[in-house]
Amino acid sequence: MSETTESMDHRPLGELLCPEPDERPDLWPWSTRRREDGVLEIGGVALTQLARDFATPAFILDRADLRGRARVWASVMAEEFWEGYGMAGGDAFYAGKAFLSSDVVRTVTKEGMGIDTASLGELTLALRAGADPSRIGLHGNNKLDSEIESALSAGNGVGIGRIFIDSVGEVAQIERIAARLATKAKVMIRVKTGIHAGGNAYISTGHEDQKFGVGAYDGQLDEVVAAIEASPHLKLCGLHSHVGSQIFGTAAFTQAARILCALAAHIMTDFGRPLPEIDLGGGLGVAYSGDDPVPTSVLEVARAIAAAVKSSCEELGIPFPRVSVEPGRSTIAPAMVSCYRVGAVKDATLGEDAGEALRGHRRYIAVDGGMSDNIRPALYGARYTATLANRVSSAPLLRSRVVGKHCESGDVIVWDVDLPADTSSGDLLVVPVTGAYGYSMASNYNMLTKPGVLGVENGEAEWIMRPQSIDDLLALDPGVHHRGEL
Ligand code: LLP
Repeated sequence: MSETTESMDHRPLGELLCPEPDERPDLWPWSTRRREDGVLEIGGVALTQLARDFATPAFILDRADLRGRARVWASVMAEEFWEGYGMAGGDAFYAGKAFLSSDVVRTVTKEGMGIDTASLGELTLALRAGADPSRIGLHGNNKLDSEIESALSAGNGVGIGRIFIDSVGEVAQIERIAARLATKAKVMIRVKTGIHAGGNAYISTGHEDQKFGVGAYDGQLDEVVAAIEASPHLKLCGLHSHVGSQIFGTAAFTQAARILCALAAHIMTDFGRPLPEIDLGGGLGVAYSGDDPVPTSVLEVARAIAAAVKSSCEELGIPFPRVSVEPGRSTIAPAMVSCYRVGAVKDATLGEDAGEALRGHRRYIAVDGGMSDNIRPALYGARYTATLANRVSSAPLLRSRVVGKHCESGDVIVWDVDLPADTSSGDLLVVPVTGAYGYSMASNYNMLTKPGVLGVENGEAEWIMRPQSIDDLLALDPGVHHRGEL
């Protein structure tokens, strides 16, 4: 413990504690438990053992938790839009941008989800991991010919289930490639519904002044529909809307559903074409810390969308469409944690205006990862929490900031959390809810290697993504003398 800490006054703070698994189960993989010896365990494996036998930092995926979440999405969509209730069926496509690996593709597809992709890399991985092409979608506001070609040639030329057209110009691009490949492309149109929802301006996508989708009310949608109708190699299957990400409540989804139904009715009247499907994108939020509310449940969202679609279609006099969604974050974020080893611990002496909770000091706890494995706090100001994984401590709490090892001061993993004052080098810190947009947005900044992802279940652990090595990084540089070449 540092001298500064010893001399601090340990009055109780306005608490910013990381909730234990039994206090906020929604923040933790379902198998997480604190053992009697204070060690945290996930999938029946102690995090101390994982750190010793594998590596830190590491992402740890509770495989059963991911399976459960995928199963819930797939079955709730199937049930709420069940043909037996007079609806036209429902689907859930896992948004691979949240985190994709072959193991994840196999896990979620086995539970009934399709895969939503947004690049050649995601598409190729989904296909190579064995996803059924007819249950794959492709997004992108600027699709490359190579992406469209790969989408249309999948499944021996049958093509993937849906390509989301994002602009007027894309119609001719897909028509040209589909004609060359002598195939028919199944397309849906991504529209801007005008709805603005979600946690941050950068991840809100349904409103007008952003790059995704075609305008619903400025003539663009009609232009795209007319162009598709005039394209012999395109088949219009429906409309799509993604209104944003990290959304709580059901209102944004139900509003978008009503708008898509109204637009489908308009297309039916003006073009004589019934649209068999609508897709409401992803966006359901998760809690990242004890400050966040418990998120809206999958069932509540699906049920609200079903009610909105049903009443809208009845009012508009159009047939029920099949309804799909593309949940990324809510499928995988809470199924993973990040585990780090604590290194340098120091206290910054702050000015008088530092605020009551800080009492003139801020504790900085540096770990062996950072903004390269979780950019979200730096990029979006996202607020995570953290707790000791190797022990519990009865030491007084100190308002702490968990930082990485990169050379910039914005390299923060947890902005504010109360951690025991005796947290020190060698301890393990675990940050929950890092399954979405952590690994997938990881970088090699400062030439740090990306951590691996450990899958845990039934007391067993294995890499589902191995950690990068320095040799992996150097392999891209033709000017480097590689091992054995000197
Ligand atoms: N579908 C489409 C068309 C999307 O653009 C997205 C996310 C999703 C589905 C999945 O959304 P989710 O269920 O995961 O919210 N990097 C940001 C999130 C960006 C989301 C972009 N699109 C973050 O870390 O918060």
